[in-house]
Amino acid sequence: MERNLILAFESSCDETSVAVIENGETILSNIVATQIKSHQRFGGVVPEVASRHHIEQITECISMALAEAQVTYDELSAVAVTYGPGLVGALLIGVTAAKTVAFAHNLPLIPVNHMAGHIYAARYVKPIEFPALALLVSGGHTELVYLAEPGKFEIIGETRDDAAGEAYDKIGRVLGINYPAGKEVDRLAHLGEDTFDFPRAMDHDDSFDFSFSGLKSAFINTVHHADQIHETLDRNNLAASFQQAVVDVLADKTVRALQAFPDVHQLILAGGVAANQGLRDRLTTELAAFKNVELVKAPIKLCGDNAAMIGAAAYVSYQQQQFGDATLNAEPGLSF
Ligand code: KG4
Ligand code: ZN
Repeated sequence: MERNLILAFESSCDETSVAVIENGETILSNIVATQIKSHQRFGGVVPEVASRHHIEQITECISMALAEAQVTYDELSAVAVTYGPGLVGALLIGVTAAKTVAFAHNLPLIPVNHMAGHIYAARYVKPIEFPALALLVSGGHTELVYLAEPGKFEIIGETRDDAAGEAYDKIGRVLGINYPAGKEVDRLAHLGEDTFDFPRAMDHDDSFDFSFSGLKSAFINTVHHADQIHETLDRNNLAASFQQAVVDVLADKTVRALQAFPDVHQLILAGGVAANQGLRDRLTTELAAFKNVELVKAPIKLCGDNAAMIGAAAYVSYQQQQFGDATLNAEPGLSF
């Protein structure tokens, strides 16, 4: 088999990442330059700051990715890039860099949807078997996606307000935890118990949609009320109760979606929040009841934004000969 080498770019939010992927399945390099420290003092990602960091770091990331992979431009088969969804200024840096490399080295350009990239992080565990269902949980999205065949994505349910990761980050701020708070809330949750009765919105309706803003507000109100009456609440129990509410809803809806789509061979768990240990454990338990469905959890180190996942998704487009051209633009609101 001819050696396929894709140089992949990811710059949709606060990580600048460049990877070299072989045959859509082997990571030769995956450089991730995170900007989290620069955004922490603002409590979230500042778009202008993100764009500036991407500009400063992307050239170095390309050099490091090629060097670590021991690959030269001449050996590349294609260049892939996230073109949406994400912050427009941030996306533009990656898109411009990828177009430049593709043009300079006469390589095909592969536009990749960031959310498809998250799903394909699971590809590094094992090949996707279609039809598959993906629970996609990140800082900006919470979706259940049905994958009928390679390159086909259908959203069957999504959040009507906050994404799960966004809720983690916002309640984390109330607990005095730095952005992004998900990982630390997850750690505290394992030290506490579900003692607060937080709401589980839409848990029992017929749709596969989610809602997390009511839970977020209930959490914030509980903490503020305690502050007013000078009562100290147990942080670990607060975190555990919040996490239990999030995991309950995500797991219940996923189980119902699996029941509604009995042809599904795999459940893929992906996106930044897929690193959550409570969610990983709960889905492992729930999936034991589905003898014909295999749970494929994206590797924890590939749950957050990275270019390796973009390269894996791009390989499918490469095989389908779906290429972009010099007119490719950032699409901040891109959906499936
Ligand atoms: O996918 P991602 O890296 O960026 C987006 O595309 O949004 O997701 C980042 C989100 C953040 O909200 C972060 O708090 C959350 O993923 N996150 C977690 C955990 N690790 C990261 N949320 C819950 N538990 C975790 N262990
Ligand atoms: Zn992401």
